[in-house]
Amino acid sequence: MELLILGGTRFLGYAVATAARDRGHDVTCLARGSGPVPDGVRLVLADRDDDGALAPVSDRPWDAVVDLATLPGHVRRAVRDLHTSHRVQVSTANVYARADTPEQDEQAPVVDPLEADVMSGMEEYGAAKVACEVAVRRAPGTSTVVRAGLIGGPGDASGRTGYYPWRFAHPTGPDVLVPDDPELPVSLIDVDDLAAWIVLAAERRVDGTFNATGPTTSLGAVVDAARRVAGSGAEARPVALDVLAREGVNQWMGPRSLPLWIAEPTMRWFSTLDTSAARREGLVTRPLEETLARALAYEETRDEARPRACGLTDEEERALRSALAGE
Ligand SMILES: NC(=O)c1ccc[n+]([C@@H]2O[C@H](COP(=O)([O-])OP(=O)(O)OC[C@H]3O[C@@H](n4cnc5c(N)ncnc54)[C@H](OP(=O)(O)O)[C@@H]3O)[C@@H](O)[C@H]2O)c1
Repeated sequence: MELLILGGTRFLGYAVATAARDRGHDVTCLARGSGPVPDGVRLVLADRDDDGALAPVSDRPWDAVVDLATLPGHVRRAVRDLHTSHRVQVSTANVYARADTPEQDEQAPVVDPLEADVMSGMEEYGAAKVACEVAVRRAPGTSTVVRAGLIGGPGDASGRTGYYPWRFAHPTGPDVLVPDDPELPVSLIDVDDLAAWIVLAAERRVDGTFNATGPTTSLGAVVDAARRVAGSGAEARPVALDVLAREGVNQWMGPRSLPLWIAEPTMRWFSTLDTSAARREGLVTRPLEETLARALAYEETRDEARPRACGLTDEEERALRSALAGE
């Protein structure tokens, strides 16, 4: 298959390019080049903010095009300019209008599509992705829309899946501080499982919209698995959510956070999805523990001089422990 990947220089796109190459496909990526593409894969440098950016790859038909874009304008221009009979659009669980319902299927309501070509802020992420989906589903030929849940494993620069394993491997005291919400539903998918299914969907020209994530588990199970894969003697120490909020610990991701924690009740089932349709079409996901072990291995290769994208720093965790001792 002659496969064009719009992206390929970062986390998921790099994994898709690798999986496609390993299955013997002829792979071309188009991106600005913020990172490398895998060996054996061609990179065409272009900035999709430019209207004519796709000209170097629009002169021939592709067997399939995989698009990782988020901006509707990028996807609309790809539909306009590229010749292919099958498109795979990487979308997200953020398209759903509600997040308080367990494991929604693909028929659940989505937010209204963004009309503009660009987002004015990340609060428009879901609407932008809906607009990308609409553009691709309207294109001639077949298309797979892949609504991915939280993606984890090696290369997760957001640190969301690597933080707890890494923290258990490098404790700052006798325990590791975790949010006291062990029953919080959590689900995630290993980047290489998602990539493998994207390539399969392109090969088989799977037509339709599909949720793609791992089985629903819990924050408590993630923390236990993180401790096991780190082989850590440190105990998990749950911290009440109101204390975390009072001490300025952020939710879900980013600096000074405890990842995967969401206090808002309407967001409680955010990461869970019904994936039975994708599984019928060949999606296979590995055990959570394996993904966390792979995320830990990736974290251990990180340049320690660069701040982590999420979690508590050593100093922040020690300060929080001291604050708890003073209560
Ligand atoms: N991470 C998660 O947990 C999660 C969950 C659900 C869905 N998703 C979706 O999964 C995908 C993740 O993709 P990813 O990890 O490969 O990386 P990404 O950070 O989303 O970037 C996508 C690709 O687009 C390229 N790109 C961005 N702006 C561009 C421009 N102006 N011109 C040309 N290329 C441009 C980037 O390369 P350059 O910077 O080199 O140009 C990159 O290779 C996205 O679609 C995301 O919305 C992610």
